[in-house]
Amino acid sequence: MRKFLLITAAGKGERFGGNIPKQFITVKDKPVIIHALTAFFKYKADIKVTVVIDKEFETGLKENLLKYFPEKEFYIIKGGKTRTESVKNGLETIPDLSLVAIHDAARPWVSRNLIAKGFEHAEKHGSAIPFIDITESVREVDGKLNRSVNREKLKLIQTPQFFKSELIKNAYKSINRLFTDDATVLEKAGFKIHLFEGDRKNIKITYPEDIKLVEAFL
Ligand code: CTP
Ligand code: MG
Repeated sequence: MRKFLLITAAGKGERFGGNIPKQFITVKDKPVIIHALTAFFKYKADIKVTVVIDKEFETGLKENLLKYFPEKEFYIIKGGKTRTESVKNGLETIPDLSLVAIHDAARPWVSRNLIAKGFEHAEKHGSAIPFIDITESVREVDGKLNRSVNREKLKLIQTPQFFKSELIKNAYKSINRLFTDDATVLEKAGFKIHLFEGDRKNIKITYPEDIKLVEAFL
């Protein structure tokens, strides 16, 4: 099946702060989003890529894409106010009967191995969502009360998330609420989610201190 990447880069990075969104800052000589794209091109040099972006940063992105990947072509699509809207816009460029990986530009340390596993599992199961175990203790807080939660049953969910394209496209058409990830959208549309083991190094840059971790891994 043909393989596509939809990379979400239209967020403002409010928790991270600073003048430019976190996915465009330079870490180890390259913008964060360029590291993420490089990982996918290492997996498959001719993977088709759609980048969802805020208008304000389009020119800068195009310059960087030309600089680092002069021979590649990209779909550049306008993002929305929320991640859910951004993905919805981007999915319009993805054809049916293919496989799509939806990945956050803010995760530069995605490995080729995880990408390969994800596409394989999605072809078999319809979806493939990477998880990692929780290593810290967890408590549920409800107003002034809080209680312990058995962490064995809880997992942290990462991107990239992989899907048969028509499944996730139809799921996004069927929802009218916001969700933080794509697996939840597919679940709300009535489908079972297939999980596979992710990678602890595949961290999402959210706060400035996350940069130190990413620098250590890249
Ligand atoms: N994203 C997007 N469009 C939005 C919001 C988020 O494409 N309207 C993207 C971000 O660019 C990021 C990914 O979705 O690559 C994950 O979102 P998150 O880590 O929450 O990034 P931001 O929304 O930019 O950060 P914050 O929530 O701190 O503002
Ligand atoms: Mg956000």
